[in-house]
Amino acid sequence: MTTPLKPLGQPVSRVDGRAKVTGEARYSGEFQVPGLVYGQVVSSTIARGRIKSIDASEALRLPGVLQVFTHENRPRQAWFDRKYRDDDAPSGSPFRPLHDEKIVYSGQPVALVVAETFELARYAATLVSVEYDSHSHQTDLRSQREKAYAPDQGKGGFEPPPKPRGHADKALKKAAVRIDAEYETPVEHHNPMEPHASTVIYESNGSLTVYDKTQGVQNTQTYVSNVFDLPKERVHVRSPFVGGAFGSGLRPQYQLFLAVMAALELKRSVRVTLSREQMFTFGHRPTTLQRVALGAAADGALEAIIHEAVSETSRFEDYIEVVVNWAGMLYRCNNVRFDYKLAQLDCYTPVDMRAPGAAVGVYALECAMDELAHQLGMDPVALRLKNYTDRDQNKDKPFSSKELRACYEQGAERFGWARRSAAPRSMRDGHHLVGWGMATGIWEAMQQPASAKAVLGIDGKLTVSSATSDIGTGTYTVMTQIAADTLGLRIQDVTFQLGDSSLPMSPVEGGSWTVASVGTAVKEVCEKIRDQLFKFAKKMKGSPLGKASLEEVTFADGKIRLTEEPSQAVSLVEAMRHGGVLSLEEKVLATPSAKQQAYSRSTHSAVFAEVKVDEELGTVRVSRVVSAIAGGRVLNPKTARSQIIGGVVWGIGMALEEETVIDQKLGRFINHNLGEYHIPVHADVKGIDVIFVEEEDTIVNPLGAKGLGEIGIVGVAAAISNAVFHATGRRVRSLPITLDKLL
Ligand code: MOS
Repeated sequence: MTTPLKPLGQPVSRVDGRAKVTGEARYSGEFQVPGLVYGQVVSSTIARGRIKSIDASEALRLPGVLQVFTHENRPRQAWFDRKYRDDDAPSGSPFRPLHDEKIVYSGQPVALVVAETFELARYAATLVSVEYDSHSHQTDLRSQREKAYAPDQGKGGFEPPPKPRGHADKALKKAAVRIDAEYETPVEHHNPMEPHASTVIYESNGSLTVYDKTQGVQNTQTYVSNVFDLPKERVHVRSPFVGGAFGSGLRPQYQLFLAVMAALELKRSVRVTLSREQMFTFGHRPTTLQRVALGAAADGALEAIIHEAVSETSRFEDYIEVVVNWAGMLYRCNNVRFDYKLAQLDCYTPVDMRAPGAAVGVYALECAMDELAHQLGMDPVALRLKNYTDRDQNKDKPFSSKELRACYEQGAERFGWARRSAAPRSMRDGHHLVGWGMATGIWEAMQQPASAKAVLGIDGKLTVSSATSDIGTGTYTVMTQIAADTLGLRIQDVTFQLGDSSLPMSPVEGGSWTVASVGTAVKEVCEKIRDQLFKFAKKMKGSPLGKASLEEVTFADGKIRLTEEPSQAVSLVEAMRHGGVLSLEEKVLATPSAKQQAYSRSTHSAVFAEVKVDEELGTVRVSRVVSAIAGGRVLNPKTARSQIIGGVVWGIGMALEEETVIDQKLGRFINHNLGEYHIPVHADVKGIDVIFVEEEDTIVNPLGAKGLGEIGIVGVAAAISNAVFHATGRRVRSLPITLDKLL
């Protein structure tokens, strides 16, 4: 294999790909030790009330069943004495498994059966009988709408919706053209391939090695240490591979608590794996009711924007996400008002899910923009261009970069948008109505403090490490590329380590910030090594680099070369030898630069979708999607494209299929399996075309890469909804757009 001179920007295949496809990569529920025992969770069948009694005697009689933990016999944890909030916890008091007899949501863990084998634990769990006192519950957001309140956003660490600007309500009344509509989005559940699992190894000295499905090993470590009052040195968390997470792994989930509790009590290694059904019991994308009102002049200029949302939360935490602020960043308008409220339901606290807030908020906004364009008799792209802004009016700051205009242009070009006939129901393909719709997407481009360590050996091999994770995004690969690129090494001479709590500090992998945060640390730590090497190389007797400055040399092929005269070179190994070292080691903490503060920093996209609707059956097919992304510098076009494709597929699901249905009488999610919770299958996904437009950004972070994990889903459901309207002339303002709503 010939390695390109500069690995960054190349479509490098996943460095962990082989391990994954051969089964060599092990996930949290797969680590095996002698004497491992298995915990099976018993879940509540009521939504609210109390446990009257639990009878575990039948389960305990089975040989091989070691213990049944309930609120009656659970050990006393540090957890129960103080309030501890994990990294991604909303404000409030976190749910405490097996705390007492109270039931606060359907599916709540009420017992953990521990047995010698998985099968036995699972069987024994069916023998545990629980009697409840059922109380009335509220699980319908509509019925609780009047009780909605404005949460304290500061407490959740969120910027509250910006203050109103101008007089939105007045301006709306006076506007030549008005849209005032309500949109509804359902509960959705994550369902990564790998269910949540924790394998807790009880070491002979009483320390724990925890294999946890998580997006942040150090978050898990801190949680276990705090909740069980263990010094951090005694809690080692590993998570080398994660089979998808999308936000569900940002917070430690209850299987972790239960597995650790059982391991400490029984002094044995314990594994707790959640079933697919139980994957529907620990958080979800919250259902929302949104009003979007837009007023415009006859030429399309926005004169008023009102975006109001009511979203669900639990009784014990205020789950906040940014639903309503986006319009104030995307479009120029001087009369805007935003309102975001929560209503409590007897459900578990929602949890972040790919582009939390934006996925639903931008859906409503971009559908409303389409409705406005239709009313104005204006092209949907032209309406967006008419209201284009280079300044984020919410923050009153310019964007660090914003090539959204190029997204509209290149996306429209690739899609063939110019051939669209404006009137609904005006395009056909046999007995199918054809619809073309588009939408804008936006997500924040964030950077968090992160550390990395690099060790270069005298064999010319480099190891770089940080306690981040790779939830399938390609972190192993991209970090390897950054390191190889900075030091001019071949990909195969670089190893990147992650997913271990003992590695240098890293934030959870979320918010699309890993490349910006950990990637910057990797770049900076390799630059420190590079500087050392260069110093050694210059000092060598008769060094060809003696008079050169760092700017005049190139690191490539394991050598430092004079850029102008590449035959003049010193190898990295030679430099080390002359420096008298057998290895070089550096560590850095990379933090966001102060200059970022003067700018608003976002990724943008333009999404174009074509649908074909069977006129008689009402079935909708997404026949093609073009997604044009402005996400800064693309470090690996292959993994980047995969991220966007994944987001678009999810957007297809969001538009047409995904919905967790709640039986209001039982207060319980009923389609809690992949047979009845519909997601796109292969046949639902046709052509997806991804464009990355050129975008240079020297402010957002030293790599100029903005992060692509979440932008791919934003706007997709709106583009498809708008295409369905264009095909059929029918506006469905509630997701998913299923047959019954369309017919
Ligand atoms: Mo993401 S919802 O930040 O994993």
